[in-house]
Amino acid sequence: MVTPTFAEIPYLKHENNCTKLIVDGKPFLMRAGELGNSTASNPRYLSQFWDKFDRLNLNSIVAPVYWELIEPEEGNFDFSTVNELITDARSHNKRLVLLWFGSWKNSMSCYTPAWIKTNPERFPRTVDTNGNRQEILSPFSENNLKADGSAFSELMQHLKEIDGEENTVVMVQVENEIGMIPCARDHSPLADKAFETDVPKELLAYLKSNKGNLTPELDSLWRSTNYTDNGTWTDVFGDSAQAEEVFMAWYFAKYTNIITEAGKAEYKLPMYVNAALIRPGYQPGQYPGSGPLPHLFDIWFAAAPSLDFLSPDIYFPNFVHWVDKYVTKGNPLFIPEHRNNNMASVNAFYAFAEHDSMGFSPFAIESINGDAEWLLRDSYKVLEQLEPIMLEHMGDGSMIGLLKGDPEHKREQRIRLGNYQFNVEYQSMTPTVMKDNVVFDAAGAEDLPAGGLAIQTGPNEFIFAGIGMVITFDHYTNAGKQVGILSAEEGIYENGKWKNTLWLNGDQTHQGRHIRLLPGKFSIQRVKLYEY
Ligand code: DGJ
Repeated sequence: MVTPTFAEIPYLKHENNCTKLIVDGKPFLMRAGELGNSTASNPRYLSQFWDKFDRLNLNSIVAPVYWELIEPEEGNFDFSTVNELITDARSHNKRLVLLWFGSWKNSMSCYTPAWIKTNPERFPRTVDTNGNRQEILSPFSENNLKADGSAFSELMQHLKEIDGEENTVVMVQVENEIGMIPCARDHSPLADKAFETDVPKELLAYLKSNKGNLTPELDSLWRSTNYTDNGTWTDVFGDSAQAEEVFMAWYFAKYTNIITEAGKAEYKLPMYVNAALIRPGYQPGQYPGSGPLPHLFDIWFAAAPSLDFLSPDIYFPNFVHWVDKYVTKGNPLFIPEHRNNNMASVNAFYAFAEHDSMGFSPFAIESINGDAEWLLRDSYKVLEQLEPIMLEHMGDGSMIGLLKGDPEHKREQRIRLGNYQFNVEYQSMTPTVMKDNVVFDAAGAEDLPAGGLAIQTGPNEFIFAGIGMVITFDHYTNAGKQVGILSAEEGIYENGKWKNTLWLNGDQTHQGRHIRLLPGKFSIQRVKLYEY
């Protein structure tokens, strides 16, 4: 087998203020969907869904690899599920992001093999404040780390052997939603010992060199001890659940970094971790604490430099809020999980256009149905057509996402692009049903969403794409000038070439006063503006 050179394997390229995933030597945007947790455990079960994935216009599948299935006995590996997954993905022209369900899956260690589960003396668990063992491997145990690291490096070595040339697998997630529950920190003897030990010099050096630029939450913990720069965790960060969360985050991140290094030593694919987000008002321990959450970015960056980025799993409606948090401190965006609801179709546009996301992936994609299914299919179809243009415009400020910042926001949104101000009104729509030949609002159904993107392709030329938006225009720099629509056309991109399907004017542009992307239908328009 020829060993691929670094330039040939999937890798991340940082240029023009953005990070692109490079596959087969070219930038690649993942229009993905993540499989439900058990779906990849039997390729025959999974086989029924590949046609659906084709119809949904996915180019990538995010799929778990289960430690308990690949290493059922210590040191004996069975990669048959992984092999079949890769073969099937290839035959459907899909790339794969593999999720390493190793030590942790949604905090718990439910995917560890039986020989780990049944030997807590050798593979210690975390312990809660009452002294009860949890079904969570302790990150303070060398044995846990060695066992996971050797399984993960076997997996990566195997991937290199069977996929090092074809590169069906383009990225790997290390663990899944790491987090400590039901208390802020592990109280096992190993953890207590670490908690009483001085904060590692490495972290203190990071804090000192980033003083003034730390996340506000970390800065405030450190400030509470007058920026003490030596001593135990309590000396440096104070005595609180938040301080304990920082301690735990450091050790979770260190452990994950060593696993990541072990994997990359075999095969250097891009690797990341994902986080379960926090419900408002919850405290560490009530939510799975210490994961790669925005207020802990500094800890994860300092302890786990081998990871390429940190990702959010977004199930909450305040999408813009969470996405904005995940692009701080230069963190590249990839959204491995999103609720498979109607909003997924427009939130994908926002992620790609506003934040140059490498990919977007609704969860349990095989189960997506109803409006959410056709909306995602049509959204991904448009994004597929726009992919080369989006890639050209990423990072240079000429592309914006159009989405209500807050789902409750009713007013027009004002956004600048080039010399123009766009006034965007979002028109979400209640879906209807037919009964006895009469049309009714579908009671209880989620609204059809509104949102999309705009790309500036010339001083006065723009592409608009999306659903349910009315846009009027003002001149941004010259308030005395009026702005009119010179031309508006609807169409499609075929192999990157524009094909007009309709010239829009009259009622369709409100007699030249606005651009309208209809509710209930994804479309693309090319628009020329002029001043008078
Ligand atoms: C987030 C996890 O990462 C997934 O594996 C799955 O458990 C979903 N939650 C379920 O909503």
